[in-house]
Amino acid sequence: MKHTYVFLWAVVLIALAGCHDDDNASSDTNTPPVAVPGDGTGDNPGGTPGDGPGDGQNPGDDPTPDPDPEPEPRVDIDGQPLPDTETNPDYESYVAGQPIYYTSISSTEFHNIRFRSVATEDNTPRDNELSNPVAKLGRILFYDVRLSANNTVACASCHQQSHGFTDPAQLSTGFEGGHTGRNSMGLSNARYYDPGRFFWDERAATMEDQTLMPIQDPVEMGMNLFDLETKLGQTSFYGQLFTDAFGDEAITSDRISKAISQFMRAMVSYGSKFDLAVQAELNHVPEPVLSEQELRGLDLFDNLNCTSCHTTTAFVLDRNHNNGSVSNNDPDQGVGGNLAGFFKTGSLRNIAVGAPYFHDGHLPDLMSVIEFYNSGINNHNNLSPDLRDRFGRPVRMNLTQADKEALVAFLETLTDEGFLTNPIFSDPFPPPLPEETSPEETSPEETPDAGGTTP
Ligand code: HEC
Ligand code: HEC
Repeated sequence: MKHTYVFLWAVVLIALAGCHDDDNASSDTNTPPVAVPGDGTGDNPGGTPGDGPGDGQNPGDDPTPDPDPEPEPRVDIDGQPLPDTETNPDYESYVAGQPIYYTSISSTEFHNIRFRSVATEDNTPRDNELSNPVAKLGRILFYDVRLSANNTVACASCHQQSHGFTDPAQLSTGFEGGHTGRNSMGLSNARYYDPGRFFWDERAATMEDQTLMPIQDPVEMGMNLFDLETKLGQTSFYGQLFTDAFGDEAITSDRISKAISQFMRAMVSYGSKFDLAVQAELNHVPEPVLSEQELRGLDLFDNLNCTSCHTTTAFVLDRNHNNGSVSNNDPDQGVGGNLAGFFKTGSLRNIAVGAPYFHDGHLPDLMSVIEFYNSGINNHNNLSPDLRDRFGRPVRMNLTQADKEALVAFLETLTDEGFLTNPIFSDPFPPPLPEETSPEETSPEETPDAGGTTP
């Protein structure tokens, strides 16, 4: 099937190279794919047979205007999907648009509750500050199935934008159908975690380290980094993207990890209903943005000590904690050692779309998380004092149904629709061809065009 695509693609390329050249005549969204390949760089070491027509493309062969717009390009010279490389998302402006209560060093009072800012939580390293061309490359890598051994799984398969970049499945499915050992993690505000460690058990020391781990994981993507560098070099477009990002076309795993990390650090969520409420209060707008019920939930969130761990306006943890999610003899003790039972969790931003919950994904909805804190906290030796009663036992909160519903309603105010649908974080690859269009009989749109314009 892939070969057929490559073949068809070659046919289209030859047709284009032969007759096409007036860019103005073609629709702007259908930029001919031959313009994208690293023409400027003359790259593609060890190029595939598909290279020929692409490289041989010379503007100004033949002035015949193209009567029909070219079909939307779908596959690259390696037979794999071809992304949109034309769009240049502005991550720098997006991140610079963070509200004052994220970035100012002082704390902010909202509804009589003091929230720390995330100014001191940023884990961006000096040598990998955000820049648009690098994050743009990171986005394409994040969504590219080439990062898995059999071209089936991308980071985005298990980190889906509409779910706050987590996976709605309890355990995620890897490239060969195997399952991950834990629930996937949301990525909203991942840059705001000063310890800088990643995963539920914090086994990755930095985000840059973390990024290369799923690629090589035998269940998740099953790829080795050397092969990956070679594979990406056999596309028409990565050479140019790496050049734009890093100054030359060398594709290295270090650059891959830097680019993906930049893309993930741009995923700052600050446009929820909660943010509108904070902004309104700071601007002395008299009408409350949050409902009575949502405010009651916020009061409970504070009174029940939730804010002692989910601590800033961005609702990120300050460090790993033991919240009694496991008992002493659970096989998964998270960080382990003298921190047995301690886990990291991501920001509670967009938590309402991030079900299921906890490291093992055993809690299917927010109400069951609240019920866990209300009545189910395990008596772990290392349980945080914040969740013990005055006799040292796991606290039993005795919440009413209305309390629980208020807490859920409050957590739902942390959903940021703008973030969940923002095109700068969306999939740059075209949707796959519909199943019924089998490659053999394909392209009622492509074939006539290729044939009809033969000089
Ligand atoms: C097959 C599913 C799968 C794929 C593919 C996958 N992940 Fe994950 N991701 C997970 C799971 C599961 C976890 C939690 C694992 C754990 O903690 O043991 C996780 C955790 C993470 C975390 C930690 C977040 C935090 O706050 O600590 C980051 C960051 C991350 N993944 C990024 C990526 C990137 C980047 C890629 C692609 C290179 C990727 N993931 C590919 C399933 C996946
Ligand atoms: C002692 C610190 C601590 C306190 C107090 C605390 N949490 Fe948590 N919270 C955690 C940790 C650690 C996790 C991750 C646990 C795990 O996955 O095993 C977590 C997980 C969560 C999650 C699910 C996150 C996810 O991605 O699955 C929600 C929702 C949540 N807490 C809400 C609350 C609420 C509401 C309260 C107050 C009733 C609260 N927390 C109190 C530390 C705490």
